[in-house]
Amino acid sequence: MKSAEIRQKFLQFFEKNGHTIVPSSSLVPGNDPTLLFTNSGMVQFKDVFLGLETRPYKRATSSQRSVRAGGKHNDLENVGYTARHHTFFEMLGNFSFGDYFKRDAIRYAWELLTAVYKLPPEKLWVTVYQEDDEAYGIWRDEIGVPAERIVRIGDNKGARYASDNFWQMADTGPCGPCSEIFYDHGPEVWGGPPGSPEEDGDRYIEIWNLVFMQFERDAAGNMTPLPKPCVDTGMGLERIAAVLQHVHSNYEIDLFQNLIRAAARETGCADLADNSLKVIADHIRACSFLIVDGVIPGNEGRGYVLRRIIRRALRHGYKLGQTKPFFHRLVPDLVAEMGQAYPELAAGAARVEQVLRQEEERFGETLENGMKILEGALAALPAGKPLDGETLFNLYDTYGFPVDLTADICRERQVEVDMDGFEAAMARQREQARAAGKFKMAAGLAYEGAKTVFEGYATLKAEGRVTALYVDGTQVPRIEAGQAAVVVLDRTPFYAESGGQVGDAGVLSSGAARFAVEDTQKIQSDVYGHHGRLESGTLAVGDAVQAEVDAVRRARTMRNHSSTHLMHKALRQVLGGHVQQRGSLVDPDKTRFDFSHDAPMTPAQIAQVEAIVNAEVLANTPVQAQVMGYDDAVKGGAVALFGEKYGDEVRVLDIGFSRELCGGTHVARTGDIGLFKIVAESGVAAGVRRVEAVTGDNALAYVQNLNATLAAAAGALRVQPAELPARIGQVQDQLRALEKEIAQLKSKLASSAGNDLAAGAVEIKGVKVLAAKLDGVDPKSLRETVDKLKDKLKSAAIVLAAVDGGKVSLVAGVTADASGKVKAGELVNFVAQQVGGKGGGRPDMAMAGGSDPAALPQALAGVAQWVEARL
Ligand code: ALA
Repeated sequence: MKSAEIRQKFLQFFEKNGHTIVPSSSLVPGNDPTLLFTNSGMVQFKDVFLGLETRPYKRATSSQRSVRAGGKHNDLENVGYTARHHTFFEMLGNFSFGDYFKRDAIRYAWELLTAVYKLPPEKLWVTVYQEDDEAYGIWRDEIGVPAERIVRIGDNKGARYASDNFWQMADTGPCGPCSEIFYDHGPEVWGGPPGSPEEDGDRYIEIWNLVFMQFERDAAGNMTPLPKPCVDTGMGLERIAAVLQHVHSNYEIDLFQNLIRAAARETGCADLADNSLKVIADHIRACSFLIVDGVIPGNEGRGYVLRRIIRRALRHGYKLGQTKPFFHRLVPDLVAEMGQAYPELAAGAARVEQVLRQEEERFGETLENGMKILEGALAALPAGKPLDGETLFNLYDTYGFPVDLTADICRERQVEVDMDGFEAAMARQREQARAAGKFKMAAGLAYEGAKTVFEGYATLKAEGRVTALYVDGTQVPRIEAGQAAVVVLDRTPFYAESGGQVGDAGVLSSGAARFAVEDTQKIQSDVYGHHGRLESGTLAVGDAVQAEVDAVRRARTMRNHSSTHLMHKALRQVLGGHVQQRGSLVDPDKTRFDFSHDAPMTPAQIAQVEAIVNAEVLANTPVQAQVMGYDDAVKGGAVALFGEKYGDEVRVLDIGFSRELCGGTHVARTGDIGLFKIVAESGVAAGVRRVEAVTGDNALAYVQNLNATLAAAAGALRVQPAELPARIGQVQDQLRALEKEIAQLKSKLASSAGNDLAAGAVEIKGVKVLAAKLDGVDPKSLRETVDKLKDKLKSAAIVLAAVDGGKVSLVAGVTADASGKVKAGELVNFVAQQVGGKGGGRPDMAMAGGSDPAALPQALAGVAQWVEARL
């Protein structure tokens, strides 16, 4: 049975039994920032299990694309070398949301396996959770599985509920005991039944996991019963296909065999059993689907996992001798295998190829050099020594080798890697980078005193005490007028740059001392450095100061920041849930927001985003901030930015229809934002767009500016602004008419010049020979003139030349009666060669160019003689 048929039969079986077929969701979980990738069928139903969301159905079935790499289930290094490790796989599942429970889940599974897929019952083993007498009883008494093939598995992983038979999606969320079905591949394969010391062998293979969802686990490990018990099952398509196709390795199933052949074709590898081909065949699936789902190769979070998988595939291609980009060429083969089941793959294939090719080109340049460095280091390594952290870091930093890639290569040579040394080199580099930026010295400043209390959410003016002063990176007790310095205060209303919002500016004053703050940056977490210059007086550690933020600048920044939240939400509404923040900068002038999206936004989409944001502004709802536990915040629907570090306590910000985690400063009501206007939209990298927008008085200034430009343009054309488009249309029509007229006049001029020229022809043996230069004529008119002269002179050999700047244009024409002896191509070349050029054409008409106008008169003078010699 082919993989496609297995998938289809699964879905049809459950559909027949009252389940709704639900399409696979994205690999990027839409409802769960705590999860790196969708890792099983239940992820898209998580909130349904938790009772937070309801669906129009109580039974569902799906074939879910899943990735397990880089997160909880990280097996990247094994992929390609074992029979069943994959980065990407398909999970077939059936789900009950408070409808049927253990009994029917078990019955359905048994019926599908034995009656539809026709597996011999005596080949099947099952496990249940130690305490689950109910499931045990159903298997033994209702299904009739003999007791010796039912195994109870307890908490075999060292903690309460830590068991192969207790499933949880992640550290928190819905979970429950499970019952697994195993297939016995037969005594010729080594291995023992589940729970036995030989269980890791390949003889007994788990094919289906039936999870009886009963609890929700919180971060503290507490188990709360779910509102209604549910069922979540998962069967790896690749595993069941291996069973039904009578093979022992997933890589031997139809779907993989075709991809392995494609990988062999693209790498020129003749040995279809080579593990590197399996690596490539596995990785093209993960990479293609991740890109389809909006992930792009990058240096952090999901993007970095993707980059590591791609680079691992490329390295294996390189190992097979393929040094050119090849990986992207497997995409059509993948589409042939899986495009029908996943239409989004077929639709996105062109983009996937492009993103992969770019990444291949980018890495290709350094892969070879990096390999040389690595080979050199390995050759010089004394036997038994690990590869040092500096080399690992150099390969990572200079050659883009993810550290697990280097480790992968080292493993093949049985060399260990010094991971601690690598981490140390990384930390050192981070420190140096920090020390190199503008306020860098600031970040490295030694500070022992109290942390700074930030009062700027509530006020822009506050009393503070100077706890430290720095000049040129050195701590000083006091500063004098004129000195540039960093001032640390125990309390401050100044916001220090973070989360994309720039630091505040303003003034610190104390008696006669006045310190102008240009920027505020954290010198340590929760220690605020005020950067600027003392304009008058002196300032000493211990002084009390009045700190006052530049209120206009801050208000502008806040408007921009608050509008960013509304825009983020609006972008997701207009463009889709794949929109994710990639970076932002909020300052007094604008908000600049980068996000994942493939295509330029259309003017209509931009207008729609503007309309949605401005509607939220007009609703003028109060903005609310609350500090709460991270889990509660995420549960309450706050958008957390993947890859950001959040503490246990987070600040949840509600602005209009948006809820995000954010520590920034914001307007009090949405109406404070004033007009919101997008002013630019552009691409910054493959799959990343950037919008810039303005608010409040900046938006007004922008509109006024546009208006002034419009008025100036209208004035110049002497119309009202509203009439501009029509007027510009008219002007363009006029221009086109004039250009046409000029072209006609030019050709008339040329032909009248031609008439004059005809008089200059000399007759040689009955053929009129003419060689002349025309002024101010383009090559097209030159040809027309030659045609006319041929008509007029009847029997003729003609060369005309025109000079424009340093360039010579030549056209030769010979009438049919003479073209047997005098070929236009040769004639034109005779002249062209003398003016530094070359040309050609038909015997009756030929063209050429040249670059030496000075040689032209003499060349033309020789034409008559040249023709005569041929007649
Ligand atoms: N969610 C369950 C698993 O992944 C079915 O095994």
